[in-house]
Amino acid sequence: MARKKIVVLTGAGVSAESGISTFRDSDGLWENHNVEDVASIEGWYRNPSLVLDFYNARRAQLAEVRPNAAHLAIASLEDDFDVTVVTQNVDNLHERAGSTRIIHLHGELTKVRPENCCNDMDGFSEATVFDIGSDSIHIGDMAPNGAQLRPHIVWFGEAVPKIDAAIDAVEAADMVLIVGTSLQVYPAAGLYRYAKAGSPIYIVDPADVPVRDPRITHIKDVATRGMETFKNLIKSAN
Ligand code: APR
Repeated sequence: MARKKIVVLTGAGVSAESGISTFRDSDGLWENHNVEDVASIEGWYRNPSLVLDFYNARRAQLAEVRPNAAHLAIASLEDDFDVTVVTQNVDNLHERAGSTRIIHLHGELTKVRPENCCNDMDGFSEATVFDIGSDSIHIGDMAPNGAQLRPHIVWFGEAVPKIDAAIDAVEAADMVLIVGTSLQVYPAAGLYRYAKAGSPIYIVDPADVPVRDPRITHIKDVATRGMETFKNLIKSAN
């Protein structure tokens, strides 16, 4: 029998218990910066070295943190289900926990690309994207094509090239699980609406859910404990 398909849509909250700050739990400040200064295309044009320093620090921090029990629980869903993780997070904690099919809607922290390249709806050619691990980049660091390197991150004001792949995955899903996102940032926040009429939607988040849909079951808890509850719930439902 074909395995049921689950899409897991994650946000900053799934990595909070690994020690990475969320965006909106601290008055709009993200690691002491205004999100607009460090995570928008305007911010990049205004002060690229501030932006590079910020992401250099995030990359270094990523090397110091580990996947938590929620990332591991999401990876273990692959034992029983056909799982696609659609994450807004730029960290690599889902990969390191063992998830194998991951769509990074907002880019990847360990990767960089030339600033004049590929920012269109066709996505990015893998040949122009480089994985630098936890290394830093600075003004004057050039790609082979002679252009300044920039983080491979989707900033506010930029297109989201992988949104179509994410919509396809949600439309095909038998169940949607949402973990640790405030559902404030579109288009990611609207993805759950593409779920089939009969597909249940579970949300794991300690905060109130800002959307209404009769299909939603809210597990009001942090990601690590909430994922245990979710796994028990679906075990008893199957
Ligand atoms: N476990 C689960 N959820 C948690 C936890 C936790 N331990 N701690 C906080 N949360 C929840 C918060 O209640 C909130 O709903 O995680 C959510 C975090 O929301 P945001 O900070 O808004 O993060 P996210 O939804 O991922 O932001 C979306 O905004 O700035 C952009 O591009 C950035 O991808 C990001 C996007």
